[in-house]
Amino acid sequence: MIIPKKVEAVLNQHLEMEANAVFNYLAVASWCEREGLEGCAKFYRDQSDEEHTHFMKFFDYINDVGEHAIVPAVKQPKSKFKNIKEVCEYSLKGEQAVTKSIYHIIKVAEEEGDKATIDFLRFFVDEQREEEVQFKRIIDRIKLIGDGPQSLYYIDKEFEKILNQKIKNAAKENNAG
Ligand code: FEO
Repeated sequence: MIIPKKVEAVLNQHLEMEANAVFNYLAVASWCEREGLEGCAKFYRDQSDEEHTHFMKFFDYINDVGEHAIVPAVKQPKSKFKNIKEVCEYSLKGEQAVTKSIYHIIKVAEEEGDKATIDFLRFFVDEQREEEVQFKRIIDRIKLIGDGPQSLYYIDKEFEKILNQKIKNAAKENNAG
């Protein structure tokens, strides 16, 4: 046994959150497509893919340390939204819940002296900070320009811009690595 049983349990609980995030964001992408918000839809599809990567990182870690990753049942995600501001607030709330869960795993790992898991979670601490900041910024921007019909075009473009920047940053990181 490389990691304590208590840590394995909270890691498996967390797997469920990452799996739900995959489908929560896919449901948002679907809503955006129906609303004609193409930039937002692309952004949320990418966000869903990213969550799948997170899910697999946890899945692989649990199995790599010789424990058993349990694939969770997926909850039916919310599929209807009042407007794009509600979508972003929903996204931020989801990310805050994921951050809380990651901090909880770190707390349990610290109590159990599990340095391997603490080390593994460093990436996620940074990732969660970035994701929360990203949604907070988008919400601030929507508050600034409004989310009426005239503003929607600009909000949609803004999402596309953020996605393109993320793709560029990822390419840079890959080249550097
Ligand atoms: Fe993987 Fe955005 O939490």
